[in-house]
Amino acid sequence: MLNFEEPAAESFAPPVQAAEPTLNGGANTGVEAIRFNASRIRVDDKRVINCQADLNQLVPFKYEWAWQKYLDACANHWMPQEISMSRDIAVWKDPSGLTEDERRIIKRNLGFFSTADSLVANNLVLAIYRHITNPECRQYLLRQAFEEALHTHAYQYVIESLGLDEGEIFNMYREIPSVHDKGAFELQFTKELADPNFRTGTFDKDQRLLRNLIGYYLIMEGLFFYVGFVQMLSFGRQNKMTGSSEEFQYILRDESMHLNFGVDLINQIKIENPHLWTPEFQKEIVDLVREGVELEYRYAVDTMPRGVLGLNVSMFSDYLRFVANRRLKQIGLSEQYPGVSNPFPWMSEMLDLRKEKNFFETRVIEYQTGGTLTWD
Ligand SMILES: [Fe+2]
Ligand SMILES: [Fe+2]
Repeated sequence: MLNFEEPAAESFAPPVQAAEPTLNGGANTGVEAIRFNASRIRVDDKRVINCQADLNQLVPFKYEWAWQKYLDACANHWMPQEISMSRDIAVWKDPSGLTEDERRIIKRNLGFFSTADSLVANNLVLAIYRHITNPECRQYLLRQAFEEALHTHAYQYVIESLGLDEGEIFNMYREIPSVHDKGAFELQFTKELADPNFRTGTFDKDQRLLRNLIGYYLIMEGLFFYVGFVQMLSFGRQNKMTGSSEEFQYILRDESMHLNFGVDLINQIKIENPHLWTPEFQKEIVDLVREGVELEYRYAVDTMPRGVLGLNVSMFSDYLRFVANRRLKQIGLSEQYPGVSNPFPWMSEMLDLRKEKNFFETRVIEYQTGGTLTWD
C-alpha cells in the first residue's frame, strides 16, 4: 500500500548526469548527451575556446560582434551567375582582346583562387569548427563556409565561361611553384588540427589553434589574396574583363568580412587567454607573416614578370609590406616594415574599416535593387 506521507516527486526526478567525457579535452563540442534538467546557461559561462557550457543554444548572446557579422554577411548575399560574362567572353576569344601578359594574370589567379578557397573551406569545417566552442561564432563560421563554396563556384563559372582548360587551372597548385608554395604553407596549419587526436585545453594546443586562425584569417585571407585582388580589380578599373573583375569585387567584399571576423576572434581569444600570447609566440607569428610576405611577393613576380595594367612588382613589394604592417597591428603586434606607403590608395579605401562599412552599405542597396557594382 502506498504511503501518502512520503514525498512522491523525488522518485520521478531524472538522475543527475555525471559530466561526460568529451571529444575535445575538457571542452564541449556540441555532440555530448543532452544533460536533462541541468542548470540553464549564463552568459558568463560562454567562452570562444574550451567552453564547458552547452554549445547548441545560440542565446543568450555574449559576442554580439559575431552575430552582427553573421547578419551583415546574410544581407550581402549574392550568386556568381548573376553577373554577366558576355563581354569577357568576347574579349577573351578575340586574339587581340588581351595581351599574353594579361592572359597570364587571369589564368594564374583563377588557378590560385580556385583551390585556395577549397583549402579555406576545408580548414573551417575539418580543423577549426570543432574547437571554436561558441554558438554565435559557429553561426558565422557556417555562413563563411557557404561563402567559400560560392567563391569556388564563382571561379568555376569564370573558368567555364571563358572556356579555359580546367585541368590546367585546377592543377596549378600542384604544378606551378608560386601557387603551390602558398597552398603548402597554409596546409601545415590545417594538418595539425585535423589530426583526430588533436585536443585543445593545454597551453601548447591552444597556441596551435591560435596559430591556425592567424595563418588562415590574417595570412591566407588577409595577405595571400591581395596581389590577385589588386590585379583582377585593375582589369575592371580599365574597363577590361569587367564580369570577372566584378566577381572578384564581390569576393573581396566577403573576404574583408572574413578577415574582420578573424581579427575579432583572435583578439577575443587573446583577451580570454592572455597566457598564450608569450614573447616566443609573438615572434613565431611575426616570422610567419614575414614568410607570407615573401611567398606572396614571389607570386606577384610570377604572375607579372613585366609591368602591365599600370602595375609592377616593385609596387607589390611596397603594398605587401604595407598590408603586413596593418595585419600585425590588428592583432596587437608591432609593424615590421617601417616607412612603407600604400601604392594602391583605391584598395586602401576598401580596407579601411569605417569606409569599408560604407562600401558594404552602398553595395547592399545596389544589390537589392538588382544593380551591378560600379567603380569608384
Ligand atoms: Fe573565399
Ligand atoms: Fe574567406
